[in-house]
Order: sequence, then C-alpha cells, then structure tokens
Amino acid sequence: MPHDTPTILGIESSCDETAAAVVRGGREVLANVVASQDQLHSEYGGVVPEIASRAHIERILPVIDKTLRESRVDRREIDAIAVGHRPGLIGSLLVGVSAAKALAWAWSLPLIGVDHIAAHLHAAALDAPEALPFPALGLVVSGGHTSLFHMNSALDVEVIGRTIDDAIGEAYDKAAMILGLGYPGGPKVDRRASDPNADDRAHDFPIARLAKDSLDFSFSGLKTSLLYTVRGKPQGRGRNATFERSHEDLDEAAINDLCASFQRATSRAIILKLDRAIEQLSQKDATTPRALIMGGGVSANSRLRTEVTDWAGRHDIEIHIPQMKYCLDNAAMIAGLAALRYEAGEIDTLALSASPAGSL
Ligand code: KG4
Ligand code: ZN
Repeated sequence: MPHDTPTILGIESSCDETAAAVVRGGREVLANVVASQDQLHSEYGGVVPEIASRAHIERILPVIDKTLRESRVDRREIDAIAVGHRPGLIGSLLVGVSAAKALAWAWSLPLIGVDHIAAHLHAAALDAPEALPFPALGLVVSGGHTSLFHMNSALDVEVIGRTIDDAIGEAYDKAAMILGLGYPGGPKVDRRASDPNADDRAHDFPIARLAKDSLDFSFSGLKTSLLYTVRGKPQGRGRNATFERSHEDLDEAAINDLCASFQRATSRAIILKLDRAIEQLSQKDATTPRALIMGGGVSANSRLRTEVTDWAGRHDIEIHIPQMKYCLDNAAMIAGLAALRYEAGEIDTLALSASPAGSL
C-alpha cells in the first residue's frame, strides 16, 4: 500500500557519476554514494561516452551494495526502486535503467522513472526540515542545462527560459580549458576567482540580454570573448586559426583576474534573467513565486550562491539551494523526487525506457 514516508532506493547514471541512494519520505537521506569518473575523463577534457558506459557497468553493483549497507535498512523496508531515465548519455542511462529494472523485478517492487533535471530541482529539499514552498521560480544551472521554470509543485514544472547555445557549466568547462586549468573546470575557475587578490572588474565580459522580455540564456559570446582576451584575435578561420598568444603567456594573477571577471559575468547573466522572470510571474497572483529554488552542478559556485541569496533577499522571497553534496549529480535527488511520484500513485512499468531527451 502506498504511504507517505516511502523508503526508496534511487539509481543515477545519466552522465559520468555512478550513484545510488536510499531516501525516506522524499527528504531524509539514509545513504548517498557517488562514484565519480572525473579522473577517467580528465585527460580528454570532457566526458567520453563509451568510457562512461563501461565504467558504469563496472561500478553500478558495488555502488548499490555499498548504499544498502550504509543505509542500514533491511531490503524488505524498501518500497520502490527509482532511476534517472532521462535526459543524458544513452549508453550511460541504459546501465542505471537496466539495474533498476532488474532489482524491481527480482524484489517485486514498483519502478519509478525520474527526469534528471526535475530531480536537480528537488535537491534543495534533501535533509531539509520542511517541504519546498510553491509556487516557485526554479533555476537549473548544470553541465547540460541552464533553464528557468515556473513550478506549481515538484511534479508540475513548466520551462519558461533556456539556453540557446552553451549551458553555463559547459561555459565554465570551456573557460577552464582556454585558461589551461583542466577538467572539470567549474570548481577550478571558482577557486581561482575566490583568490582574495583577484579583480572581478579587470575585464568587462559581455552579457547576452537577448530580446527585451526573453528569459533565455546565451553563453557562447562570453566564451568567445574570453578566448580572444586570452589568445588575441585569430588569424584565419576554424581549425586553421592561429592566435597571437596562449594561456602559457599569462601569470597566476592574470589568470585569477580572468576567472573572477568570467564568474562575475555568468552571475550577472543569471541575475538579469531572474529579475525578468520574477517580474513576469508576479503579474498574476497564481504564479507569484514564494521562493527561488536552484539546483545543478553550478549551484555549487560560491559567487552564484551568494548572489542568488542576496537577490532573493531583495525580492523578499525564500531561497532554497542544495547542500554542496547534493549540487552535483547524485541519486538522493532521484530517490527524493520519486517519493513524491510514489505518493501521487505515479508508478512506471518494466517497459520504462531510457531517453537522451528530457521531459522539460
Ligand atoms: O549537474 P552536474 O553535476 O551535471 C549535469 O547534469 O550536467 O553539473 C556539472 C557541471 C560541470 O560543468 C562543472 O564544471 C560545473 O557543474 N560545476 C561548477 C562548480 N562545480 C561544478 N561550475 C562553477 N562553479 C563550481 N563551483
Ligand atoms: Zn545533473
């Protein structure tokens, strides 16, 4: 019988983290295990799908075993198996979905598929004392997404803005590559930008405003501007282009200034669209947000966390940001959101499929 504090085993394998978690009642995390593949992909400067799929296959069962041990729940206490089944790399998703189906079948438990992006928006509820308030303005900032949402509930989410080119996390990863900082770039740029001597106004990087009412984002111009600032204007086009300089000509202080200025530009781009979004949503009582809910890998960014908190203060609404350990990909957010689907009677069959495209 469905009840309101289900214990759910969640599985996540959409990109390059193999993860499992046990969550009770949608918010209480009993175990959260993440096996990162960063080291395997770093020499290639990005995720290599075939390497990711193979690593998921090797790690998924040990990760699930460890999760169950750490949770200290008896497997008979588990009410459902949840899995992030879209969007993501298809080969990676299939590993998690197959494992989840096998467990659901073997243990005769309901199977619940969860959208990874919707789950990032639930991450702020994990380990929180109360449920998230709605209606809310949602913001997902990750390696693959930069989107704004109007949320009537965790399960009733509408996209109101998205990136028209690069995602913000992708822009951070490319910026780090241009500056020779390695992969994944976000945390490295963040650390450099946080140097007390870094000057965030050393460079005035562009912010894409787009059309007057647009809630969409664009980060490719910012990336190109950083590239030209570091290397000078290119001679020739495309792959044959040659540059005047490289990052090796920069000293530490110059790199820190570039990181701080880049980080300032990305934060300003987000705040600009949050201003527009709250103005548009506040025109109707029914959609006026009570809170800003943020999620995704880039919500770990120190400056963005401070800026959105200040922004929410200025607009007198609540702010809900995930704890650091729930910003990056994890399965607790999958199991947590699945609890809400379970309570709503939204159960999938073993025909559940993995999909590279998301529902949002
Ligand atoms: O949500 P996530 O783990 O994976 C996706 O669903 O895409 O996000 C990963 C992204 C990467 O691009 C990484 O560089 C970025 O989050 N990231 C950060 C920080 N920590 C991770 N970006 C900026 N500042 C950070 N501190
Ligand atoms: Zn993610």
